[in-house]
Amino acid sequence: MTSRLITAALPYANGPLHFGHLAGVYIPADIFFRHSRLIEKDAVYICGSDEHGVAITLNAEKQKMPYQQYVDQWNKDHQDLFKSYNIEFSYFGRTTSKLHAQLAQDFFSKIHKAGYLVEKSEKQAYCLNDKTFLPDRYLTGVCTKCGYPEARSDECPNCGSWLSFDEIRDPKCSICGKGNIESREVKHWYFDLPKLAPQLREWLQKQTHWKSNVRNYALSLLESTPQRAVTRNVTWGIDLPPEFHADGKKIYVWFEAPVGYLSNLKEWAAQKGDADLWKKYWDPKSELIHFIGKDNIIFHTIIWPGMLLAAGERLPTNVPANMFVNLMKKQFSKSSGWYVDAREALQTYGVDRVRYYLTTIIPEVQDTNFDWQNFHDKVNAELVNKIANLFNRVGTQIKKHYDGILTPENFKTIKNLASAHSDVIALLEKYDINGALSRVVTLCEEANKYLDDVKPWSEVKVDKEKAKILFAVASNYMMSVAALLQPFVPAYADRLLTAFSIPQDEKLRATIYQSGAFEMLQGRGLKIQAESDFVIPRIDSKIIEEEIKKLGQLKG
Ligand code: 2FM
Ligand code: ZN
Repeated sequence: MTSRLITAALPYANGPLHFGHLAGVYIPADIFFRHSRLIEKDAVYICGSDEHGVAITLNAEKQKMPYQQYVDQWNKDHQDLFKSYNIEFSYFGRTTSKLHAQLAQDFFSKIHKAGYLVEKSEKQAYCLNDKTFLPDRYLTGVCTKCGYPEARSDECPNCGSWLSFDEIRDPKCSICGKGNIESREVKHWYFDLPKLAPQLREWLQKQTHWKSNVRNYALSLLESTPQRAVTRNVTWGIDLPPEFHADGKKIYVWFEAPVGYLSNLKEWAAQKGDADLWKKYWDPKSELIHFIGKDNIIFHTIIWPGMLLAAGERLPTNVPANMFVNLMKKQFSKSSGWYVDAREALQTYGVDRVRYYLTTIIPEVQDTNFDWQNFHDKVNAELVNKIANLFNRVGTQIKKHYDGILTPENFKTIKNLASAHSDVIALLEKYDINGALSRVVTLCEEANKYLDDVKPWSEVKVDKEKAKILFAVASNYMMSVAALLQPFVPAYADRLLTAFSIPQDEKLRATIYQSGAFEMLQGRGLKIQAESDFVIPRIDSKIIEEEIKKLGQLKG
């Protein structure tokens, strides 16, 4: 069976992560990874901090903090946050690691040797106050293509165009805020994307299994790919390989960060005590799946594949990019207080309720919204009323009337629910995570409908033995629901399965994920633990009113 290397965009170690990052990238990738293991794929989930780049140095400078200390702090913050959201990477590394620098330099040298790096001089912005060149975000101004006022010297975040310095009107230096800027000749290495374009186009055209918007966007970008400067005159970053004699120039952050997928994979292998283990996942026969947000599409469908082609490495198999998540219809903005602290939300609501809601708003086809009222309504209607309530009412009755035990003969008439399992698995294999979770909810609705029809709580008063059979059918549904919830709300699913005396045995949990508990129940019956608690508390509408009031008031 092919193995599977799953990656999530390396987050900049540069400030807090919000729901948009979690629902757009890290939760979907985590769900896909958990699902992959449950279908017994040999999968690894690799990520790490992206610790270079001008956005980082500018902020560290503002806070008067050494760069390394600044990224250390955010690397730790992100790892803690991921852990609290039950996002479990196989390995979470950093682009400031030694191995990463070596590997990034190797890529640079290989791409150069293959003839895809061109050295040339071009005009760049130079701040006469700060006596420094102003690459990337060090320079902002009006985009001449769309008029957006905060374009940067490399790209416009609004229209997505690649810009050069002379395509920015009213340029300002981000260090001193002034426009005391002149244009100066400077030598850099450029990545020859136009030369790679035919190969990239041919490859992209074959990726018919990708989301069509991602593939079409990538193909349209290829129409006008310029040569891109991939070196910078900055002090924080990875040096060019020594043979370039580049007097202090560094590799452009986007020309080294994606190499982090491979360097972190190698570090994972070393940590596992088998330094060659990475090869199995980097093999072209292994799947390579990059989970990213839409702002990273250009880098993962053109620049990174271009680097891989030029260096003679394998290419990605899929780039299931998501759109953005807004907060109550506006962009998250910490500085204007339009923000929800992802940690505080966990303290108030707990990981299951938050992770459940975030899963329902994964922006798979279009931008979605984190909406407090919708959070309240959805969690209460689905997770509390449909799912937890099913477990609670049936589980309590089985405990009360039968000491929590149903024997194999009670399960003789149950039917196999395997189709729900194959549906969920097929949807996840197509990256339709919203659809897969909805399918689990539908299964729960079927179970609730069954219970409303047969009313075992009435039957138990008349014929206790007959009611057992009805509870057994309901338990079969519940076991399937619990098993299928594993990738989505892992902590709650574990609580449910443990309540049903299913040990934390990977093989067993994988089996019931794939095909339900049908055979197991007929073979060994069921035991509900005495202390088990299925409840998920309802969200109080009063707290939600408070949350809505808070928005826009807290300034970051
Ligand atoms: O947009 C971002 O947050 C980038 N740090 C993503 C990098 S992904 C990879 F290529 F490293
Ligand atoms: Zn300046």
